[in-house]
Amino acid sequence: MEIKKVGVVGCGLMGHGIVQVAAQGGCDVVAFEMDEGALAKGIARIEKSLAKLASKNVEKGKMSEDEAQAWVAETRGRIASSTEKASLADCDLVVEAIVENLDAKKGLFSELGGTCKPETIFASNTSSFPIGEMATASGRPERFVGLHFFNPVQLMRLVEVVRTDETDAEVYDAARAFGSACGKTPVSCKDTPGFVVNRLLVPYMVQAIEMLDRGDASKEDIDAAMQFGCGHPMGPLTLTDYVGLDTTLSILEGWTERYPDEPAFSVPASLRSKVAEGKLGRKTGEGYYAWEGDKKS
Ligand code: CAA
Ligand code: NAD
Repeated sequence: MEIKKVGVVGCGLMGHGIVQVAAQGGCDVVAFEMDEGALAKGIARIEKSLAKLASKNVEKGKMSEDEAQAWVAETRGRIASSTEKASLADCDLVVEAIVENLDAKKGLFSELGGTCKPETIFASNTSSFPIGEMATASGRPERFVGLHFFNPVQLMRLVEVVRTDETDAEVYDAARAFGSACGKTPVSCKDTPGFVVNRLLVPYMVQAIEMLDRGDASKEDIDAAMQFGCGHPMGPLTLTDYVGLDTTLSILEGWTERYPDEPAFSVPASLRSKVAEGKLGRKTGEGYYAWEGDKKS
């Protein structure tokens, strides 16, 4: 079972990157969004990122200027965009990357189950929700996996490939092969809360926020401590801004409701209040830090 045509639903922070790496991996891709504005924004991000990667390859001597331009044109040429669900009907794989809201995801998969050809494999990029619940909603649980990419998708080398008890072995193998074609190292995970990375990473981010909320240390010092003491590329509060405070809150609210006895899952007060104020991190220009574009100001 070879995946040649891929649909990506949601072209935001994660979705635009998934569209890009799938096209770089040689797939034809349909980028799907709710409206033309969101779609245009996602496509513009892809074009900017392709241009950046091409110029890096030229600088490093990996490609000539002409080869880099041809690579950009060829990759961009594999990407179509649409706001019509019917355009996803003949995809071999549809990857969902919409907001972290379980009802929205289940509603989407239920609709896609009626729209896509019976062979289409469905995948969710969810950070935290049970894959099995979305698989049931889709009406084709044996053709459903989690494909959890990391932010920024273009640069992070991992994809977690999540199987449920009902996932067909050949569907699972095809999903792993797709992850590899996207240039990622696939790791296998069961359908457990947060899979491998977020089960470890999100409680760590919570501890850092609670440390800040208690006044134990400044945000700059907490971040510097983890950067220079543990060699992390960015500290936990910068990372929370990077992931998005809304996404982090949705993960934690889902977990605390579903697993109330798990002490590692809690919602820090400042996370809730910042999201209520619309301070969602880098994407809105303010979270734990103020941001100007990609840089902290
Ligand atoms: N496309 C193309 N090129 C890009 C790019 C993009 N989207 N983003 C950055 N680049 C380029 C930059 O231009 C830069 O190029 P030069 O070297 O030519 O300047 C290069 O890539 C490196 O970028 P930065 O200078 O910004 O470099 P950095 O060394 O600070 O690395 C980083 C950035 C890779 C994001 C690094 O800080 C990092 O690894 N941070 C941690 C990220 C992380 O933990 N992600 C996981 C989040 S959790 C998650 O994703 C799961 C979930 O469900 C919430
Ligand atoms: P985002 O808010 O940047 O993007 C979501 C996009 O989905 C938006 O562009 C929105 O217009 C679109 N959308 C919403 N509902 C839709 C629908 N019904 N049909 C089509 N498009 C729709 O969010 P994000 O950070 O890209 O997160 C997307 C998913 O990826 C979430 O499940 C999140 O948990 C997961 N994830 C996020 C990160 C991260 O670091 N932010 C990392 C890994 C996984």
